Amino acid sequence: MRFIETWTPATLIATRDLTSSIREFLIRPESFDGAAYPVGSHIDVAVTVDGRPETRSYSLIGEADRAGYRIAVRRAEDSRGGSHYMWSLAPGARLTITLPSSLLPIDWARRHYCLIAGGIGITPLIGAAQALARRKAEFTLHYAVRSREDAVYLDVLGTLLNERLVVHAGDEGRRLDLDSLFASLPPDAMPLFCGPMRMLDAARRAWTGAGRALSDLRYETFGSSGLLPTEDFRVRLADRGIELEIPRDRSMLDALNAAGYEVISDCRRGECGVCAVDLVHIDGEVDHRDVFFSENQKRANEKICACVSRARGTITVDMLHRPDAV
Ligand code: FES
Repeated sequence: MRFIETWTPATLIATRDLTSSIREFLIRPESFDGAAYPVGSHIDVAVTVDGRPETRSYSLIGEADRAGYRIAVRRAEDSRGGSHYMWSLAPGARLTITLPSSLLPIDWARRHYCLIAGGIGITPLIGAAQALARRKAEFTLHYAVRSREDAVYLDVLGTLLNERLVVHAGDEGRRLDLDSLFASLPPDAMPLFCGPMRMLDAARRAWTGAGRALSDLRYETFGSSGLLPTEDFRVRLADRGIELEIPRDRSMLDALNAAGYEVISDCRRGECGVCAVDLVHIDGEVDHRDVFFSENQKRANEKICACVSRARGTITVDMLHRPDAV
């Protein structure tokens, strides 16, 4: 598969608060030449959560910058600990990061595009907007936020896009209506979406409801965004009589592996399905946070992606049945 990671040492050059809860980080790897990277690229950053090494993925902001890689991190109270680690860093901190890679394949042959961002999901779309503007493509960027004060990079985007930037601020009564937006798009339009899981589900429903092919909707989401609050839950291993507590700041994948029950993984972002294990019983509720399974598969609750998905209560999984058939 594609997820070959090359880790490299880097330095945190500078930070900048964009809002009271979103901070920009400028990170420069040791050997850095400012080379261009694909639209929608992200880097992984090695973080420490409760003394444990973990990794977090962050989208790169904008096209290549000779100063280094820019990411933005929202300090989330219900996060799994990565954002708190990032916010604890001061300029000069040493980091280990991966080189940029993109999971957002874009068909550049289209004439019309539609960019849709929800909250911090704006980050990968800034580079997309720059690339599309350079190509003189026809597109509008719809940016949904609770309040305009939560919006970031409005100065950059406003200068670049003018009236092609539409901010949908909930507290101004200007909610994003995906049904009418998609209905208004030309037939060849390709939407690029990045936002929380609940918004992605709505976008998928609206897109297919408009009679469009789901394969045309390009999207990213964040592994930390689910439909339920992030909380501790329990995993019972069928046939082994073992039950594990999954703390709120740890993934099920990491907890199982740390306890010696190996689950293979690849992307660790809910995208490849390699870590999927069979669900055999649910005493509570499952919060599927992956973008690998379809809505129908999620409703069927037969498998769960251990890297990002969570639950409320206790779930029983069977790890003997590997997901070769997913
Ligand atoms: S490792 Fe790719 S979906 Fe979990």
